[in-house]
Amino acid sequence: MGPEVRIMAINGSPKPKNNTSILLEEAIRGALDVGGVEVERFGFAGKKISPCLGGCSAYCRQHGICAREDDFDEFASMWLRADGIIFGTPIYHMGPPSQVKAALDRLGEIFFASSGGRYPRFCKVGGAIVQGGVRYGGQEVVIQQIIDHFLLMNCLPVTGDMPESYLGVGGFAPNTEYLREDRVARETAYSLGRRVAEMAKIVKAGVQALSAELPAEYFYSRRLPDRNKGTPGSSRGGHERAERGSEGDR
Ligand SMILES: Cc1cc2nc3c(=O)[nH]c(=O)nc-3n(C[C@H](O)[C@H](O)[C@H](O)COP(=O)(O)O)c2cc1C
Repeated sequence: MGPEVRIMAINGSPKPKNNTSILLEEAIRGALDVGGVEVERFGFAGKKISPCLGGCSAYCRQHGICAREDDFDEFASMWLRADGIIFGTPIYHMGPPSQVKAALDRLGEIFFASSGGRYPRFCKVGGAIVQGGVRYGGQEVVIQQIIDHFLLMNCLPVTGDMPESYLGVGGFAPNTEYLREDRVARETAYSLGRRVAEMAKIVKAGVQALSAELPAEYFYSRRLPDRNKGTPGSSRGGHERAERGSEGDR
């Protein structure tokens, strides 16, 4: 029995009722079947996540959180405490929906800026599930974009089982029923979820076993700084918000 792991299941659809959840729930089932797995779901539907403004890197660097206060904090906190990520998203214009891209931009920036350009070795295990309305509508392009995000964040991408799942899971939903009956997409989603959980356990056990000899980058604090407590030396109760556009230094 390995360590308990926490898996974050991301649903990138901005719609409350969506096709992404069909494959995501299969992957969650696969992860839970591994045992010793807790799943936390984050759905973009109904969430307000504004884009990165880019001009306030100094704020990110100083505080380790984003200057903009919206639902991104919830996303980032959940991401930080996860050992594995199952990333489901629809395709929008051959990419993820803009809300998803906004969250990834901001996630990258708070850690990039506050770690002096060296991301911590997060080592979260991640897998991508992407579905679109057209058979060749950009599934692999978007899977690759999610994998690139994992790589950039020093995370460890995995795929589902071969022979069907080369990069991740790609689904085709001309309508919801069609996707529901797509055996290959559902089976590969299940196996991808399993592999994320299995590998997350293996990595967590390995990091724990080697803790005495690994550098500090492997042990980044699992919490975001509390924005209500203020920074050391600050005379204010909370973080001062960045002067937008005036601190651009990247
Ligand atoms: C703005 C927009 C752009 C889209 N662009 C693509 C696309 O490039 N390729 C594709 O296959 N489907 C595209 N679609 C279709 C959706 O990906 C498809 O309907 C998907 O099943 C929606 O998933 P959801 O219900 O989980 O949101 C687009 C849909 C919208 C609303």
